[in-house]
Amino acid sequence: MSVEDAARAIAAHAYAPYSKFGVGAAVQMDGHIYSGVNVENASYPLGVCAERNAIAAGVAAGARHLEAIAVFTHASPPSSPCGGCRQVLREFAADPSKVSVIAINDRGERRTWTLEQLLPDSFSGSELP
Ligand code: THU
Repeated sequence: MSVEDAARAIAAHAYAPYSKFGVGAAVQMDGHIYSGVNVENASYPLGVCAERNAIAAGVAAGARHLEAIAVFTHASPPSSPCGGCRQVLREFAADPSKVSVIAINDRGERRTWTLEQLLPDSFSGSELP
């Protein structure tokens, strides 16, 4: 299954009773695909984005190297990852210019970028002592 198919499939499980903006995300890390959905909370700031939950699933499985991510929403044009998620994706991108970010929706629309395009001149752990 592709990251796009996985993101589309998992989106039905999004927990978004407050925003009604369900999101499904799937990452390819170390050759394997991991999925996540946004999980909102009655205490609004505690909600977590789909992209971060997909990364967490991969990391918990032992994966460390992000290769691609797909995000499925019902938005048109398809939504790209939020700024905070871009930084979380960067943490696991050895080379952000080689990580594909794909946004899709239920109308068959598709947008693609590299992570470098979405988060240029990014900060990473390599700058820390
Ligand atoms: N959301 C995501 O899951 N990913 C994004 O990149 C943007 C926003 C979620 C957070 C919240 O549950 C809902 O979409 C509306 O912001």
